[in-house]
Amino acid sequence: MTQVPGNLQTIESHMLELQSLHPGASGDFTGLLNDITFAAKIIGREVTKAGLVDILGATGEENVQGEVVQKLDDYANKVFMNCLGRRGQVCILGSEEMAEPVFTPVSQGSGRYIVVFDPLDGSSNIDANVSVGTIFGIWRRRSDRTHVGMDDLLQPGRNLVAAGYIVYGSSTMFVYTAGKGVHGFTLDPSIGEFLLSHENITTPFHGQVYSVNEAYEQGWDDKIRTVVDTLKMGRPGREGRMSGRYIGSLVADFHRNLLYGGTYLYPPTKDKPRGKLRLMCEAAPLAFIAENAGGYASDGAGPILDITPDTLHARVPLYIGSREDVLWIEKNLSSGGHNL
Ligand code: AHG
Ligand code: MN
Ligand code: MN
Repeated sequence: MTQVPGNLQTIESHMLELQSLHPGASGDFTGLLNDITFAAKIIGREVTKAGLVDILGATGEENVQGEVVQKLDDYANKVFMNCLGRRGQVCILGSEEMAEPVFTPVSQGSGRYIVVFDPLDGSSNIDANVSVGTIFGIWRRRSDRTHVGMDDLLQPGRNLVAAGYIVYGSSTMFVYTAGKGVHGFTLDPSIGEFLLSHENITTPFHGQVYSVNEAYEQGWDDKIRTVVDTLKMGRPGREGRMSGRYIGSLVADFHRNLLYGGTYLYPPTKDKPRGKLRLMCEAAPLAFIAENAGGYASDGAGPILDITPDTLHARVPLYIGSREDVLWIEKNLSSGGHNL
């Protein structure tokens, strides 16, 4: 006989429990997280169908319904833009896919939250059926004044109220933290609910995996070359050699390392002296999650969370994962920083 579920918890009820810890809470924040959950389900559904596009004959400009076929990252961006802050909780939305942030018109009231997101991360992998993801960070408006400006948007990761990601993999998983533990939920597609599957995720202090695109080695400085070589051979005082794993989807690489232990590196190169990854929509939210799970994230000189962005699309070198390993990398890079 089918087992009757006893202690299943949906993501919505988990978020409501979080809200009950703050008796005066308006529900705006919970509502916003719910909007993100809803957006994730829609994007997840579309990602799962991606491989069917060719056989359904939608490779041209229009699909069978006569609708214009959109690139999935553009689609995911629109879903986020349409779903978020419908109840006026948001004052600024910033996306990797949009050059400028979108400020909520003053006439619609000025919500308290700022959301910055990468709607589809790793999208170059999608045609090969490899995991992709979504990343988001939520900040609070700096003041109660009615005018909202760029200084409300350009805040360091240390000010994050919540951050999370969704990985569209063999299962769809939603991982988030609001500063009280990192929790993972797996989508049960038969009921359309994210169910608590990974409560209070903590990441190992030290991992056996390093994740880096070694094809860029020619552009690295000597310090990063030595760091990666040392990781390969085994660090002094550490048992065993490391193993390499690089998917090329930051969310998926980060997620695996978070669970198993390991370090993801995206160092600067001669042609990209700030690296490739974006501080606000990729590095800072994942750094917030890493630190809340007992890990650490650095730009090679100090904590990612302490960096104040100068623009929405500011880029940053990223070393993130197991605390002890990332601190070791930082120590080896920080004397004088990178020297490209
Ligand atoms: P996006 O698809 O949002 O542009 O991000 C891609 C990023 C990240 O997911 C991944 O880790 C990195 O690009 C891979 O870059 P390389 O191909 O340069 O290794
Ligand atoms: Mn990305
Ligand atoms: Mn993207």
